[in-house]
Amino acid sequence: MNPYETEHNKLVRECGAECAVLLQSDGSFPLEAPCRVALFGNGARRTIKGGTGSGEVNSRSYVTIEQGLENAGFTVTGKGWMDRYGELYDGAKKRFIKGLKRTAMMHGKLAVFEYMGAVMPEPEYDLPLEGEGDAAVYVLSRISGEGSDRKPVPGDILLTETEVRDIHKLQDKFPKFLLVLNVGGVVDLAPVMDVKNILLLSQLGAETGNILADLILGKSVPSGRLATSWTTWCDYSTIGEFGDRDETRYEEGIYVGYRYFDSIGKPPIFPFGYGLGYTEFSIKPGEVTEQNGIVNLDCFVRNTGTYKGKETVQLYVSAPQGKLGKAYQVLAAFDKSRELQPGEEQELTLTFDLRDIASYDEATASHVLEAGYYVLRMGQSSADTQDVAALQLERDIVVRKCKNCLGKPDFEDWKPEQVVLEENPDVPVLKADVAGFKTEEVDYTPLEEVDPRAEALTDEELCLMNIGAFKTGKESQSAVGNAGNSVAGAAGETTSALYGKGISTLVMADGPAGLRISRQYTRDDNGVHALGDGLPESILELMPAPAAFFMRRSAAKQKVSGKIYEQYCTAIPIGTALAQSWNLALAESCGDIVGNEMERFGVHLWLAPALNIHRDIRCGRNFEYFSEDPLISGKFAAALTRGVQKHPGCGVTMKHYAANNQETNRYGSNSQVSERALREIYLKGFEIAVKESHPKAVMTSYNLINGVHTSERYDLTEEVLRCEFGFDGIVMTDWIVRMMAGKDNKYAGPNAAKVAAAGNDLLMPGGKADLEEMMAGLQAGLVNRRRLLINVSRVLHMIDELTQKK
Ligand code: BGC
Repeated sequence: MNPYETEHNKLVRECGAECAVLLQSDGSFPLEAPCRVALFGNGARRTIKGGTGSGEVNSRSYVTIEQGLENAGFTVTGKGWMDRYGELYDGAKKRFIKGLKRTAMMHGKLAVFEYMGAVMPEPEYDLPLEGEGDAAVYVLSRISGEGSDRKPVPGDILLTETEVRDIHKLQDKFPKFLLVLNVGGVVDLAPVMDVKNILLLSQLGAETGNILADLILGKSVPSGRLATSWTTWCDYSTIGEFGDRDETRYEEGIYVGYRYFDSIGKPPIFPFGYGLGYTEFSIKPGEVTEQNGIVNLDCFVRNTGTYKGKETVQLYVSAPQGKLGKAYQVLAAFDKSRELQPGEEQELTLTFDLRDIASYDEATASHVLEAGYYVLRMGQSSADTQDVAALQLERDIVVRKCKNCLGKPDFEDWKPEQVVLEENPDVPVLKADVAGFKTEEVDYTPLEEVDPRAEALTDEELCLMNIGAFKTGKESQSAVGNAGNSVAGAAGETTSALYGKGISTLVMADGPAGLRISRQYTRDDNGVHALGDGLPESILELMPAPAAFFMRRSAAKQKVSGKIYEQYCTAIPIGTALAQSWNLALAESCGDIVGNEMERFGVHLWLAPALNIHRDIRCGRNFEYFSEDPLISGKFAAALTRGVQKHPGCGVTMKHYAANNQETNRYGSNSQVSERALREIYLKGFEIAVKESHPKAVMTSYNLINGVHTSERYDLTEEVLRCEFGFDGIVMTDWIVRMMAGKDNKYAGPNAAKVAAAGNDLLMPGGKADLEEMMAGLQAGLVNRRRLLINVSRVLHMIDELTQKK
């Protein structure tokens, strides 16, 4: 292993422990020393380090849980069970893939387009739980990935009968039993709530198994907190729609996640912000101040238990219902203590700006703070808070005047019964100091600079510059990523057609769980050629057998013939796990790992972080995303960005902008969302992250918003992103690959000329058909030369910035 890999893995190992959430504990863990451990469950040997699809990182290797325990000196029993489970699983998987291919064929389609990301539900079986030990661990895994959503069926969101039975058998037999959840999203734990020790390990990248061993031995402590509410499947909201091919109505409006549960008074099993540790903490409020809208809360965190640990303090605000109606409470600030020894105390200060919790009023197209009584609550989860102060706002404050521009859904948002906040006589009431508040008026005139180098280009050259690289005369072969020419396994690149004019290219590679490029490659006169892992295995296995065979064989042949170059990258914890750390410095250091590897391998733009909201636990890509809460999403995206962008020549690409919260028919589904929900929930994270960390790029999403593809929405990119949020980087589309889009959609795919006209500076990954469509659109007036000049100028500036490392 190269020294940089060793160093990065070490960092992942340190960080990972903080991402794990201890859900139930009777104090049996940590163990004092390595012992004999009976290990079972689908993730024991087949541990999942992260999900499938473009987010799958090709690290050199990763540590499974079986290996991690052995590395730490445990004697693992249960190996016979793991062998038999492996055979059984492989057989079931073969039949499953065969079935998908057959069904696709019957419908005249290709499985790779129809079933990308499809997950085989765990099979039922009855294998003897042979294995003795001083303790037992059952690892329950789930995987998902782009292209498909999860299902509320046994073996996916629900547990199978086999899993429930085996978990109970082990708990009955072993006095020390730990259920480990190696999952990227919620599983319904209702049938196993009697299990005394449950650890949500999550999917922690290259060091997953070692991190579990460290936690079990108390070498590190779990200090993660949920960033999404966990409860039984049937308790999640059914107000809005999910997973329709054509229309998905977000009728729940702003009542997403804990905003819903808290507002209707239905506590989830494990609420947002919840998590235990190996110790206990008391948190006491100190002084609360407010000046010009900036609220500061001092608090004292004390370790009152007998083990070391870290505590996260959360500050929620309940706003007056006013005429708009509000969620019961929203997270306004959070902070995490350092590791405190028993008896040790630390003072933290939590800060937020009142303006940032303003509501969006569609009637006046403005962000407003409505007059009335605001309660500040401090606590250890959304369900466990104490009132610490109140703020009295004498009049309505218009924080920002905008314009409604994102279209209208065909419904009115749902609202819960309003609960009037009772005044708490025991907490100090501060009179909000709003005399100096000024209403921000958005100037909707975008900055439209034209670079003289762009003016010198022909129309065709401008179109080429506005489209990702492709070999002229050939449609891009890219399915997921793998369209780069100069870095093997990179997802895309800007055109090299203008090298002769001194215009170099930008290379983009996927994330978010690390940098996704090929482990090995060869090079010849035609460029670089990935060996083996250009395409994710989850896609290769769905390809027609001859095509997959050909791809694998040509990789093997190259391996024999040419010199092999290596570019190993580090798999970091998945997005959801990072958010569960509630530690922004930790996320920044993971971004630093990525930035370091980008510099090393010549990648300019990382196609991450991904910050879509966990609107529904079924979304197949939730593992890549952070949270159901926009503050957490925005803050973590900003932290990763800081980590990456401190490296010269490296930028991030925040994605998928916006309201891309399901995978079903992701190229053609229309998210119907109100302007208010968009601005308070779905765009908010992007707003926070753009303002805090100045990302170099943003990627529009595949879906439509209120009937128009996001990539065709000038309002979304130019007006909201640039004029309102102040974004000054480049905007690119998600990877529009025409053959993947499906012909039987209600809505046609985006048009290349309209995409450029809407201010997408790059249509990715690029193909000949895109060039033809853009040129035709230019002739027909769907886009004009001036618009192309502006887009191309932005790309040129980004090339200057990232290649000359200014
Ligand atoms: C995914 C993006 C990814 C891109 C390039 C798309 O299918 O939605 O998240 O960055 O492919 O691989």
